Amino acid sequence: MAHEWDPSEYERAASLAVAAVAAYVGESQAGERPAVSSPPVAEVFEELDLRRLLRHGGMDLEGFEPWLRALLRHTTRLHHPGELAHQVASPDVPAALGDLLHGAANQPTSIYEMGAAIAAIEAAVVEWMTERVGWDAHAGGVLTHGGSLANLTALLAARAAAAPDAWRDGMTPGLAVLAPLSAHYSVKRSVAMLGLGERAAIPLEVDELERILPERLEATLERVRAEGLRPMALVAAACATSTGLHDDLEAIGRFCRDHGIWLHVDAAHGASGLLSARHRGYLGGIEQADSVVWDAHKMLRTSSVCAAVLLRDVRRLEAAFQQQAAYLFYDDDGAQGDLGPDLLSRQFECTKAPLGLKIFLNLAWRGERGLGEYVADQYDKTARFFELIEARDGFECLARPESNILCFRYGRDSARQIELRERLLADGRFHLSSTEVNGERWLRMAVMAPATDEATIEELLDEIESLAAGAQGGLHDPASQA
Ligand SMILES: Cc1ncc(COP(=O)(O)O)c(C=O)c1O
Repeated sequence: MAHEWDPSEYERAASLAVAAVAAYVGESQAGERPAVSSPPVAEVFEELDLRRLLRHGGMDLEGFEPWLRALLRHTTRLHHPGELAHQVASPDVPAALGDLLHGAANQPTSIYEMGAAIAAIEAAVVEWMTERVGWDAHAGGVLTHGGSLANLTALLAARAAAAPDAWRDGMTPGLAVLAPLSAHYSVKRSVAMLGLGERAAIPLEVDELERILPERLEATLERVRAEGLRPMALVAAACATSTGLHDDLEAIGRFCRDHGIWLHVDAAHGASGLLSARHRGYLGGIEQADSVVWDAHKMLRTSSVCAAVLLRDVRRLEAAFQQQAAYLFYDDDGAQGDLGPDLLSRQFECTKAPLGLKIFLNLAWRGERGLGEYVADQYDKTARFFELIEARDGFECLARPESNILCFRYGRDSARQIELRERLLADGRFHLSSTEVNGERWLRMAVMAPATDEATIEELLDEIESLAAGAQGGLHDPASQA
């Protein structure tokens, strides 16, 4: 029985791990350690003794505790008030319990009989998501390992609608996808992977904040058609990765409907705004979409990865993958039986993690209302941070935020923003990202952690000012840049 699970080993090790993780999250939220610790990789190899442990083993209960502490020292702390870099969830307790369960029960959510409870949960979660988008019972979807895969799946469904033979015969030239240059990179990557060629991603005209200009769509469509191209989809953002701003989905939706163009709304970040009565107006018109992407591992507080691709008419998702595999499918409709849903015909993954469980537990525990309040709080705080930043000399924001993403800068020099970000990263107390909008570099924050408050942002701004002041001759004076 050498390889059997030892329940008492599990209980002791898991208790130890739970205590260590609870302390870790506690000190992260209190800001007692750096938000980010990113030493050279060779040092991490050394400190975690990776090569020896990999090759020779030897970890036991006693060795596990200090090793876990060393690992947690070099994590990016997503519950830390100063962790503001990326749109990665600050996970909540119920979702974390889902991951704990998965570690032992290991239910792949692809074939119903491999995990009836988990499959039913995914179906219920997808149904709830489609209702929140504003669709009826014809709608459906599937959970995916991330928003990039969800974008690819949505565009595959759009391709199947525009060129049903492409699956069997390959692509003939002529199909195009209309998307602003600011669309998440996975959109252009999907266009290339679907065999359209990257040049078939036709940039849409945008305003100075990189939002699609609905009044210019007609002209672009005429030009594209005159060039002999056939747009199979238009991609709009709710909200854009860089700026956190939303495209005008009402106007874009009308245009797509009038011209018979598949509207794909990449709402990976912003769809959770549907849960906040005060913010769902930003998503007005999303129900006109043919497909929508919604990441739970952004604003629904689950660990990575956990996303959804949703279709107004689920049959169009069924048409996307036209494949047989005798060891898994045997019905004409691609299913093994009729007790419950088999998802292989709707998704790229064969084995898939029980993604719905994490979303379900957060909803069941906190309520849709609780999650909606989290989203609203993060969006509201970010609006206050905008005021704080605008009130400081030398600082400016790109735009009033429409989400929990905010771009700002100190002075106008692009190189200065990169240098500031890197100095902050080296110190570790604050972790920001940066982005380019209209060719200019901005610092960027995504306010994911509930612990971030106005005092955090005041301290961050003080720190930026003192870095700039302490680096005379290194960083430019913002006044001289104005
Ligand atoms: C708008 C948008 N779409 C898609 C993605 C990709 O999602 P994922 O990281 O889950 O693959 C992101 C990630 O930041 C995003 O912001």
